Amino acid sequence: MDIAIDLGTSKTAVFIKGEGRVYEEPSVISFREYGHKKAILAIGDEASKIRGKEPVGVETVRPLHGGVIDQLDATKLMLREIARRTRIGRFLKKPRVLIGAPFCISDVERRAVLDAASVFETSTVRVVEEPLAAAIGADIDISESVANMIVDVGSGITEAVVISLGGIVHSESIRVGGDAITDALVNYFRNHCDLIVGERTIESLKPMLCDVYGQAEETITVKGIDVHSYLPQTRKITSGQVKDAILGPVSAILRTIRLTLENTPPTLSGDLIDRGIILTGGSALLKNLSCLIEESFGIPVRIANDSAGATLRGTGRMLEEMEVLRMLRS
Ligand SMILES: Nc1ncnc2c1ncn2[C@@H]1O[C@H](COP(=O)(O)OP(=O)(O)OP(=O)(O)O)[C@@H](O)[C@H]1O
Ligand SMILES: [Mg+2]
Repeated sequence: MDIAIDLGTSKTAVFIKGEGRVYEEPSVISFREYGHKKAILAIGDEASKIRGKEPVGVETVRPLHGGVIDQLDATKLMLREIARRTRIGRFLKKPRVLIGAPFCISDVERRAVLDAASVFETSTVRVVEEPLAAAIGADIDISESVANMIVDVGSGITEAVVISLGGIVHSESIRVGGDAITDALVNYFRNHCDLIVGERTIESLKPMLCDVYGQAEETITVKGIDVHSYLPQTRKITSGQVKDAILGPVSAILRTIRLTLENTPPTLSGDLIDRGIILTGGSALLKNLSCLIEESFGIPVRIANDSAGATLRGTGRMLEEMEVLRMLRS
């Protein structure tokens, strides 16, 4: 009867209590408009493949941006289709829903999340703070009186929080994550290499292309379209050039961590030095990000297992163990 949802900027994932994860695909929807009505053509992986290749009259959008809902109608349409595919509407009558959202969002953004979740014809919807869910998903016992620091580096947002006794003691966030890194690389190739490279190409190259700390100077070949001739071409780019290209977003992530550390009460700082920082979110996998953070702040850093799945795992665990949730609310 209960479902957990991670409505992320790059992917949407759904967990049904007792069944586990039943859906995880990109937060993308493709539709055709007939007057005021929209007919869904594809969602998720299928819609991602269509993106950029649509015929006239078809639109493909990523309805979330910066960790929050940017296009409410498209988000609801996507969630309604997910409910149909996962048969939630059919078999789960009036489910209780836990849906993750960044800690820092405004009331208006929170209301949009509640509105979007209502497509599941819910009996109750609760918005849970994503960094708390991510901490639980990273196997941290958040109820302890020992402070833990989680840095969730997603696609649209990075949140750094200090947690103690089940609550957030201090948090800082910035609407920068994997998307900003992709954009920085797309711009770099266009402006410095005269090459148009698609977002999907950059996404697939990211694990090889982006090393934020390593010293080895490697050269990588990237395919794209020449800005002058419009013909397919390749360019070589070195690790050093990539580091420069993504310096802006990476520095912004480091600044967010620094602010959180600076604002943590001294009584808790000792715990952080002992326990270290735990990274969650897909962009935690940026090569050597953990080394860069360790080197910058002198605190050990650990990446959670399946870091991109931590939020859903934690939200799912909150469903399974409602006591955890009750404790958080009391
Ligand atoms: N190996 C990797 N190296 C670098 N980046 C990666 C890697 N694997 C995934 N990513 C990035 O992780 C991001 C997706 O992370 P995640 O699934 O946590 O985002 P999200 O939850 O959808 O977004 P948000 O929480 O910001 O709304 C993408 O930007 C992707 O490029
Ligand atoms: Mg996320």
